[in-house]
Parts: sequence; structure tokens; C-alpha cells
Amino acid sequence: MTTEKVAFTGARQTLLATLYGRALDSRSDHPVLGDTMAEETVRRIAYDFTRFHLSRGEATGVAMRGRQFDEWTAQFLAAHPDATVVHLGCGLDGRVFRVAPPAGVRWFDVDYPEVVELRRRLYPERAGCRLIGSSVTDPEWTAEIPGDRPTLVVAEGLTMYLTAPTMEALVHRIIDRFPRGQFVFDAVSPLGIRAQRFNRALRAAGATLTWGLDDPRRLESWDPRFTLLTELAAVDLPWIDRLPPHYRIACRIMKLIPPIRRMGLLLRYRFSR
Ligand SMILES: C[S@@+](CC[C@H](N)C(=O)[O-])C[C@H]1O[C@@H](n2cnc3c(N)ncnc32)[C@H](O)[C@@H]1O
Repeated sequence: MTTEKVAFTGARQTLLATLYGRALDSRSDHPVLGDTMAEETVRRIAYDFTRFHLSRGEATGVAMRGRQFDEWTAQFLAAHPDATVVHLGCGLDGRVFRVAPPAGVRWFDVDYPEVVELRRRLYPERAGCRLIGSSVTDPEWTAEIPGDRPTLVVAEGLTMYLTAPTMEALVHRIIDRFPRGQFVFDAVSPLGIRAQRFNRALRAAGATLTWGLDDPRRLESWDPRFTLLTELAAVDLPWIDRLPPHYRIACRIMKLIPPIRRMGLLLRYRFSR
């Protein structure tokens, strides 16, 4: 087995923490996501993953978020079996393998060029799936994707590394390019941005969260073609019962304090031209 050396820094390095979270979840007796490919991939990367100090609760949290996005993706594909899926900031997430879209679906995994190169070396090619190496803030990336079908854009763990103007530009670019569809992503509140110093994995990666969203409805004012469909707090995700007891208690307490409850949100928007 060949192993890959990885020397990412900052936001790019955080993809190793989420990959490791899914790998740890898959080792558990009752996994939420059960992504054994993440575990195999971790074994193929020469890297000290323990430096993230991920607890079992944090790993389960990563898996819960991933599972919710998988379910939203599967729902969209059930309604649109000929859809385009655009997976932004894909890192080393094997969503395309977990969701296993039907043959009619066109799938694009997008991340920085060096991340995409690593992905090519670690994962097998999959029919219908293409990789695009680009920053999502580069105005050119959408040109590589045909804009002719219902489109799901999914971005997990990405938006908090953008800024308000780059996020707004991204929303316009998506709606200008694709005829109709959904944009699903998670976001951190401004309080979450302030609390980032307590995030050990983030500190270990040397990454900084830069964009906080206070009110998901505010994004509707960015573009009249953009409508909020679903707002789900991370602490309200199903599968809370798979968390270790002290994390379950913490979630119950967090739910009672609105600003804390809304520190991490999973959002689903609809768009149409
Ligand atoms: C926390 S990781 C999440 C990776 C993956 N979605 C997952 O859940 O495992 C953040 C990802 O966003 C990517 N990223 C951050 N800023 C980006 C940008 N401007 N353009 C493309 N990718 C970006 C990083 O390279 C990294 O893969």
C-alpha cells in the first residue's frame, strides 16, 4: 500500500480533521455514517491525525452533519434523477461513493487544485464524476459545468472559510449559471466565529473561520431568486442519541439558549432563474 504525504496548511488542512472524524465514526459499534472508505483513506495518508484531538463526540458530530447532507442529496436526486450535483469544498469526503447517484446524474467535486490532485491519487475514478481544481471564489469555475439541468450545490464545512462578499458572489454565480435547484450548506453564527479559539482541531490545522451568519433569511435579500427552505440547528440533528452521554447533556442545555443553539446551522435554499 502506498502512502501519501500531505503538507497542507490552514483551511486545506481541516479536511484531514473531518476525514478523520468520519473514520473514527466508522470504527464505532453504532456508527452514524459508517464511512469505511474514510478509514481506509486515513490509513493511506502519512499524517499524525491524533494532533486534532478529536473526541468521540466531535467525530460523531462530523458524521451526523455528513449524514444529513447525504440525505438531502439523496432526496434531491430522488426528485431529479437527471440532476447535476456540485460538491463544493469536497476535500476528501467520499459523498459521491456513499450516495452512489444513479447513472444519469452528473457529479462535480470542487476544491483547491492541490486538494483535487490528492483526491485523484487516493480515490478511484467514478463514471459520471469529474473533479475541478479551483477556488470557489474564482469566477471561472462554473464555466466548466453545463448549466442545463436541475442542480444541487452542496457545501459542507466550507462557507465559514469565506467572507460575506465572497459568499454573496458565490450565491449570484450559482443562480446565474444553473437554471434551478438547491444550495445546501452549513454556517456558523457570529458567536460561533468568536468561540473558534475553543476548537482544538481548528487550532491544530492553523485555520481561521471568517464568515458568520446571524440570520439565514438575510441571504434572501442578496438575491430575489434565493429562498430559504430549511433551517436546522446542528444540536437538533437526529442521531443525537449516538453521542456519548456528556455530549447529549450538553446538546440539551445548548438547545435551551437560543444564541448558543444557533451557533451551527444546516441550511437548504431553493433557487430558480
Ligand atoms: C472543513 S474542510 C471540509 C471538507 C469536506 N467538505 C468534508 O466535509 O470533509 C474545508 C474544505 O473547504 C475547502 N476550501 C476552503 N476554502 C475554499 C475555497 N475558497 N475554494 C475551494 N475550497 C475551499 C478546503 O480546501 C477544505 O477541503
